[in-house]
Amino acid sequence: MKIPRTTLDEIQRKTDVLDIIGSYVHLERRGSRWWGLCPFHDEKTPSFTVDQKKGLFHCFGCGKGGNVFQFIMDIEGLSFPEAAGLLASKAGVQIEEQSGDSKEQDEHEALKEVMRRISGSFQYILKNADEAETGRKYLADRGLSKDTVDRFKLGYAPAARTWLFNFLKGKRYSEEFLMETGLFSRKYPEITIFSGRIIFPIMNHRGETLAFGGRTMGDGPKYINSPETKIYRKSENLYGLFQALADIRKKREVYVAEGYMDVLSLSQAGVTNTVAPLGTALTERQLHLLKRYANRIILVFDNDNAGVEAAKKAAVLCEKLQIEHRVAAPVDGEDPSDILQKHGAVRLKEEMEETVPTLDFLMTHLEGDTEIKSPEGKQKLAGKLFDYVEAIQSQVKRAAVLEVLADHFHVNIEAMYLDYRSRMNRLSKEESKDAGNRRKTEERIPEDLFLCLALTANHQYFKKTRNLITIDDLHDERARLVFAALEDAFRQDELGLDTVLDRIEDQNLSTLIRTKILSGEFGGESAARMISDTVRSIRLRRLRKQEEDLSWKIRAAEKQNARKTVQELLSEKMYIIEERKKLEESTTSEVS
Ligand code: UTP
Ligand code: MN
Repeated sequence: MKIPRTTLDEIQRKTDVLDIIGSYVHLERRGSRWWGLCPFHDEKTPSFTVDQKKGLFHCFGCGKGGNVFQFIMDIEGLSFPEAAGLLASKAGVQIEEQSGDSKEQDEHEALKEVMRRISGSFQYILKNADEAETGRKYLADRGLSKDTVDRFKLGYAPAARTWLFNFLKGKRYSEEFLMETGLFSRKYPEITIFSGRIIFPIMNHRGETLAFGGRTMGDGPKYINSPETKIYRKSENLYGLFQALADIRKKREVYVAEGYMDVLSLSQAGVTNTVAPLGTALTERQLHLLKRYANRIILVFDNDNAGVEAAKKAAVLCEKLQIEHRVAAPVDGEDPSDILQKHGAVRLKEEMEETVPTLDFLMTHLEGDTEIKSPEGKQKLAGKLFDYVEAIQSQVKRAAVLEVLADHFHVNIEAMYLDYRSRMNRLSKEESKDAGNRRKTEERIPEDLFLCLALTANHQYFKKTRNLITIDDLHDERARLVFAALEDAFRQDELGLDTVLDRIEDQNLSTLIRTKILSGEFGGESAARMISDTVRSIRLRRLRKQEEDLSWKIRAAEKQNARKTVQELLSEKMYIIEERKKLEESTTSEVS
């Protein structure tokens, strides 16, 4: 459903962003903005802000941001039209389904209608046609029951490549329209891409057929799949979701397998809450979709290299979206379809009920040919898990995971933590460097750079700022360049816009500074406030990091019974905590 621009504008006009976001997040006013604890990541001090006038939200902690539509999409796991619908009903705006873009909507409906017809015909052919005998036999040999074949509406595409075209032409569809189904060759419009194959209809969560996959029983590529069309996106749909939905909702749990055959086999074995991505790795969109219905994902993967890598990627996404995840890895490395065929449904179901935390699975299977007992081996293997550790949103869980890793590799936890931290620092510097080369002036400015730009435009505040933070407190590579230039100009006693720009060699960066400053974004009375707020947030970030570092050192010292060191570290930590509390409670502006 496409909603007309004018309706969207009306929804936006009649929606108070503060009201809406305020019903999910407790917000307090500070300066010109509203602040609260970010609902998208775990934090203890507010870095989530709402700008009521502009109608935007932004989190300085995790970088999420956007307008109120985006907020509702993210927090409720809704698509754009769904979020707009929700906001429209709150604002009392009527969404006219038949206005504006109804032509496009009609086309979508018509496409779904023709796909439904085609699917029905393929299904009929599989059941009845003589030529589909090989298909029926093939499915039976793979251990699939009639019931399963019906539930998933499997079909058979006749060998004759022009059959489908003639069949549909007879029903008076135009050639142009048929091309939109994605089922025909661009060059030879009468020729279909599916012939002599078993057909797997791909449906959305409402059971509407959007596309097909087709398996060969003989030569040619194993599967041929529909290309993406006006109604079908691979990364936004999941195979088997419609059939699995009721069970997923009931159990709040979903199995994610690798392919069509796995879904059929698992479903037949009674693991009916199973889906699979569509020939690509699991995507964030797909997980978002699943998060609407389930709290927990069980990844069904082989323990071969590809399976372990895929499990790691999926685990990173699950952590990012805060979905619980485990792995079901069949013991002999067989896939669910093999197990069903060789050992039967009961055995398959039992194997699927044996799940392990993804971390355990990764630790035991990541080894490959690396020797886990050697020092280099430990370093290498632990390193492979750091991007998983980084994706974890909770500090407590991250600490617990590092502890598990330290145990597993028989090293002390402080060492594990320090290696993790230094690798993450290095990565984030490289990232911001890379990004610096690509970025345009339109992009979102990270907090650190934002501060340095504001200081360049308002250099009267630099003197006080440099007493509160140092260049080492800045993470963003470009922010560090600007800060260094400011510092240098300050020491030469010639602080000014041009003198700072003269000290910056990176052309893109100086252009960015000029454009931003000319746009007036950093001028006006609010500058002091903006600068203070940002300095405060950077100082809080540093104090929290110091606190965390100290906690790790204390734990390590405790383990070694180094009492004196523990005492010293503890008093240092108390001091840092005091500082942090003072800063959190202070409201006065410090730089002006
Ligand atoms: P698999 O090769 O594991 O297929 O690929 P499968 O579904 O288990 O089928 P069987 O058991 O070998 O008959 C997993 C998924 O990858 C996609 C399909 O979505 C498949 O289900 N795939 C695989 C393709 O799209 N094309 C291919 O040629 C192979
Ligand atoms: Mn397979």
